[in-house]
Amino acid sequence: MIFLTGDTHGLLEIDRLGTANFPLGARLERDDLVVILGDFGLLWSDPPRAEERLALRRLEESPWTTLFVDGNHENFSMLDALPQEERFGAPVGVVSAHVLHLRRGYVYTLAGKRCFVFGGARSVDRKGRTPGRSWWPEEIPSAEEYRRGLDSLEASEWRVDWILTHTAPNHILQALDLHKYLHGDPVSAYLDEIYREVAYEKWFCGHLHRNSRFTKDRIRVLRENIVNGDTEETVSVERDRPPLRERIRAMTRLRPLEGD
Ligand SMILES: [Fe+2]
Repeated sequence: MIFLTGDTHGLLEIDRLGTANFPLGARLERDDLVVILGDFGLLWSDPPRAEERLALRRLEESPWTTLFVDGNHENFSMLDALPQEERFGAPVGVVSAHVLHLRRGYVYTLAGKRCFVFGGARSVDRKGRTPGRSWWPEEIPSAEEYRRGLDSLEASEWRVDWILTHTAPNHILQALDLHKYLHGDPVSAYLDEIYREVAYEKWFCGHLHRNSRFTKDRIRVLRENIVNGDTEETVSVERDRPPLRERIRAMTRLRPLEGD
């Protein structure tokens, strides 16, 4: 089986895959795959902090195999330095035997599905970050990666089963009212072309910090929900948390008015 979830942001949200939130995980096996759709973030500090090493060891000791697409909040110096191996029909970065990085522009066969993978996105908060310490220019794909993606799709005759990305095409950003923050991202412009040209059954992405389903386009945006990719059923305990802005609005409404 194959499960997918949105950004985990390193130590901040990796507990999502713990038994309390993902009880089904305890019954999975190594052939079962859990895919994190970018902003994995556990390869961050260099050298790694003890907590990061522990979290990675826990992930390795989980009964399933963890795969991640890269996002924008990743230490790309560390990702790019990972040893590379051929798995699922294309090269992966090997963090440990069962924690693997799915690289940009390849078509992998995951649980029988031909999956086109393309990570990366532009960080809106990049101005507040330090190059080489908390931001890496490789969040934007290289010309070689963009070309590799088109070559892989050409070899697949522009037809795959699933598409796995970090960000989404522009019309999805618009539909979620996020375009004003995220407009001008070259990765979304590239994905617009993929959306137009590629026949696919389902598309899963993260980055937008929402759990949303676009039925007509068969695009699923994921945040904290963990879903079964085949049935699209949510299997995590925590699910459908409203966006931060709505939570703040709700809190403001609950606050007693002056004089109450
Ligand atoms: Fe992101």
